[in-house]
Amino acid sequence: MPKLPDSGFNRVASFYDALARLVYGQALQQAQQALLPFVPQQARVLVIGGGTGWLLEQLLQTGKQLDILYLDAAPAMLQRARQKYEKYKKPHSCRVCFRLGTEQSIQPQEQFDAIITPFLLDLFPPQRLRQLMCKLATSLAPGGQWLLADFWPVQQPPPWWQRLLLKGMYTFFGLMSDVQARQLPDYHAHFTALGLEQQYSQAFYGGMVQAKAFRRVKEL
Ligand SMILES: C[S@@+](CC[C@H](N)C(=O)[O-])C[C@H]1O[C@@H](n2cnc3c(N)ncnc32)[C@H](O)[C@@H]1O
Repeated sequence: MPKLPDSGFNRVASFYDALARLVYGQALQQAQQALLPFVPQQARVLVIGGGTGWLLEQLLQTGKQLDILYLDAAPAMLQRARQKYEKYKKPHSCRVCFRLGTEQSIQPQEQFDAIITPFLLDLFPPQRLRQLMCKLATSLAPGGQWLLADFWPVQQPPPWWQRLLLKGMYTFFGLMSDVQARQLPDYHAHFTALGLEQQYSQAFYGGMVQAKAFRRVKEL
């Protein structure tokens, strides 16, 4: 069977969350939690690269009325997220649709009021990232929110311990999950080129991780 594009996280799905917690404690989750207030009360939401579904549970708990497309490229990640959703028994006001695929499987007519990219954008080298972000930007409704949590060191150049951690991660996930990037992207340049304006920013894990909300202020 041909390999699905960007499905390399399949190989680490069974231990990804434990590994992330071991290295970063609660920081990666706190960064994603910080984005929840920016999701509108009634919204079409795209979660792309959400992994095993922790963030999905958080969205259900907001009590907001959301129409969520949960898109992930790795079948094992998506399967875990789906199982979490099926086990979630508390009342909520969300409709959730799971889709296996990449940004390429977003249909031209699909528009979202909020797009969440949790630890996704750091995986791609510049040209691929440009294409991916362009595709997402065309799916973002005017005035929509782009909510990002990612490795984005506040201090530039990053201190030695952050550079060491990043090198370790890129080596590990390059081997295990076919991650193509070798260093963090110039996020700022990519967001500015797409006419997205930063509304909010908060740093975590000694300034190595940031949560940011961007708003689309002009047409593409
Ligand atoms: C680094 S993991 C982050 C998982 C989760 N957001 C978290 O923080 O625990 C990246 C996730 O993005 C998915 N992914 C990678 N490339 C993708 C793409 N082009 N489209 C959709 N999902 C993708 C992977 O399968 C994986 O689940």
